[in-house]
Amino acid sequence: MSARRFLVTGALPYSNNRLHVGHIAGAYLPSDIYVRYLRATGAEVRYICGSDDNGVAALKSAREEGIPVEELTAKYHAAQKNAFAGLGIRFDLYGGTHQPEFVRTHERLSQQFFLTIHEKGLFTKRTTKQLFDEQAQQFLPDRYVRGTCPHPDCGSDNAFGDQCEACGRIMEQTALRNPVSLMTGSTPVARDTTHWFMRLDQLQDRLADWLRSKRDTAAAGACWRPIVINQSLGRIESEGLPERAMTRDMTWGVPVPLDDPDARGKVLYVWFDAPIGYVSFTAAWCQQHGGDPEEYARWWKDPDCKIVHFIGEDNIVFHAITWPAMLLATHDSPSVQGERGEFQLPHNVVSNAFLNFRFPGKEEEKMSKSRGTAIWIEDYLQDYDPDPLRYYLTANAPEQARTAFEFADFVSRNTELLNVLGNFVNRTVTFAHKYFDGKVPAPAGREAIDQEFLAARQTAADAVALELEACRFKAALAKMMDLARAGNVYFDTTAPFRTRKTDMDACGRAINVCLQGVRTLTTVMAPFLPFMAARCLGMLRLDESALSWGRAMEELPAGHSLGAPEILVKKLDPP
Ligand code: MF3
Ligand code: ZN
Repeated sequence: MSARRFLVTGALPYSNNRLHVGHIAGAYLPSDIYVRYLRATGAEVRYICGSDDNGVAALKSAREEGIPVEELTAKYHAAQKNAFAGLGIRFDLYGGTHQPEFVRTHERLSQQFFLTIHEKGLFTKRTTKQLFDEQAQQFLPDRYVRGTCPHPDCGSDNAFGDQCEACGRIMEQTALRNPVSLMTGSTPVARDTTHWFMRLDQLQDRLADWLRSKRDTAAAGACWRPIVINQSLGRIESEGLPERAMTRDMTWGVPVPLDDPDARGKVLYVWFDAPIGYVSFTAAWCQQHGGDPEEYARWWKDPDCKIVHFIGEDNIVFHAITWPAMLLATHDSPSVQGERGEFQLPHNVVSNAFLNFRFPGKEEEKMSKSRGTAIWIEDYLQDYDPDPLRYYLTANAPEQARTAFEFADFVSRNTELLNVLGNFVNRTVTFAHKYFDGKVPAPAGREAIDQEFLAARQTAADAVALELEACRFKAALAKMMDLARAGNVYFDTTAPFRTRKTDMDACGRAINVCLQGVRTLTTVMAPFLPFMAARCLGMLRLDESALSWGRAMEELPAGHSLGAPEILVKKLDPP
């Protein structure tokens, strides 16, 4: 049987800012855990991410920082890449939709997509009015205009070009009263502009059927999360899909590839080109490893490979409706399809809700740079190890509903990690060094209690695997910790610290069994806590191949010598 194959992606972060814990909790930590686990089971995986460099967000930040947009995106691209590496989030390739190394392939594939959809007649070209900032010489996207709500019963000044924050009503940008451009603070004017609108209505029946099939598997216990189904299928069934403009009036982005005067000075909408980044970065990986970018088809067009997207909740509509619509639109069309089949739809779209922030004793609120309610990864890594954050963000993951980051919680989770997992590993290895010369003692005729704990390792490893297969990371982590807890109970019950004075055989038997527990835990903790697992490998004198899931139950032979004990988790003081 050939290995299972997966292409796993993390949503491409906008390269106009640093990364905070909310980003990590949303898409990147769960995908990294998933990938590490899949690899441990022998699956062949490509794990792809990179920066989302195009779009107006980058332009706005570049203007604020007073540097060219290329420089801005290069700077944050590099910073984000480092932050990911510091947390042990290990992509096979970290691309960037406008980074010099990737931009050519990315443009080529994005334009190919656009042209295919165009040839299919799935775009309508239409002229509408939009607000234009004369100072910035630019049309303004919805969120970049603020003004007074036009509804007489509201009249709030906190309305944006798409929605009023006070009364929640959706509106047209041009309906806002006293509009102000958030680009420059000037008053924008309405101007005509022509765009290409994608006929999502033409694809909605096929999309709905596909989503229903995912919902029905979910009911059968598989893994599409309800939040994703509700926001996608729910929306189609209740409102239907309107046409969506897939072009923008800007020069920063992928040029619209049409020989049409109306296309001049226009680029593809950032949400059109960004997900194509998943494909173009896969192509870049193939180019770097073997020289043929077209090999991307092996991942994208071969149904033996499963595509899994990890995202945050604000990305659901784009990944469960728009992007699948783009993929579907290319079906049965020679120019994209080539001779290698059709782009397949994602196997799963895994979304977390938002991670909020809570100051002690206050209500939780959204993470925000301006309100100082974000924990930046670079800052975190200056003071702490990566694994305690990985532990906390998984234990407290917003998998089904929003959760909040609170520093005191982080410290108490660190204490839990220390007391349960750190303690079990540490007391076992230290004991072996102190009383058994740093070697695995002889098993010396195991008894029922020993067999029971040894068997619990397999049960735990299987339970963790089952949860991870279904992308239930929080539950998986809890089951791993249960095994460490059982280890502590076993240690306390067999009490080697007592038997060492009365019955050295019994003492050795217990430490032998505890070391087998540490051995299993090393493999099972590795997807969640890779740095701690690496230290365990050192203490057990095993190499990285020991992290293979199939070897988790392998016995350390009597006499095997151990490495020096190391601290796994540092104690942190409560705030
Ligand atoms: N940049 C977007 C965000 O941060 C995510 C883009 S995901 C992609 O919300 F699929 F479009 F790449
Ligand atoms: Zn209002």
